Amino acid sequence: MKSRIKTPDSIVEKIARKGIEEPDFERIREEITDIAGVRVTCSFVADVYQLFDLLTQQDDITVRAVKDYIKNPKPNGYKSLHVIIEVPVFLSTGPLLVPVEVQFRTIAMDFWASLEHKIYYKFSNQVPSHLVESLSDAADAAAELDSRMERLHREAHGVPQRQLDPPPPPRIVEV
Ligand code: GTP
Ligand code: MG
Repeated sequence: MKSRIKTPDSIVEKIARKGIEEPDFERIREEITDIAGVRVTCSFVADVYQLFDLLTQQDDITVRAVKDYIKNPKPNGYKSLHVIIEVPVFLSTGPLLVPVEVQFRTIAMDFWASLEHKIYYKFSNQVPSHLVESLSDAADAAAELDSRMERLHREAHGVPQRQLDPPPPPRIVEV
């Protein structure tokens, strides 16, 4: 897991990029939901969805938006599961709901995304088309590796019990 807080410069740049006019703190709070960011990298795609479920089922967490770029990859091949959650932060003036962007991905997806990010940075977003194509091929290869590794893992360990058994129904206590 990695976390980061967006720098003031990067917040200012994003406000300009998003064309937010007359930005006050209220507007910024509404529009910029990734000032706090967490990235969760795991071994298998199944872990991605399991960790997503565990986090979003927590009582103190509210889901604001989900983007599933694993089921619907970006045209360049980018894959990850993104969720914007709201987490209560208890200040002396009372609780404040703070948005946090959480990105879940596999090690292979993370490897791809970090290289793609570097390439875009190096070419200042003007990536030569042969590299765009190679990146897209590499994303397919990473996805193939993910499914192979998951198949191997399941073959070696079997499907974990908790994925086979449905959760028990809640017990109702008569009072
Ligand atoms: P931003 O304005 O950049 O925040 O994008 P967005 O509001 O459309 O949200 P989106 O969920 O698409 O992307 C949020 C974050 O996901 C980005 O800031 C990156 O960290 C990551 N991301 C999204 N697309 C890509 C991509 O194509 N390549 C890489 N390397 N990272 C990406
Ligand atoms: Mg962002």
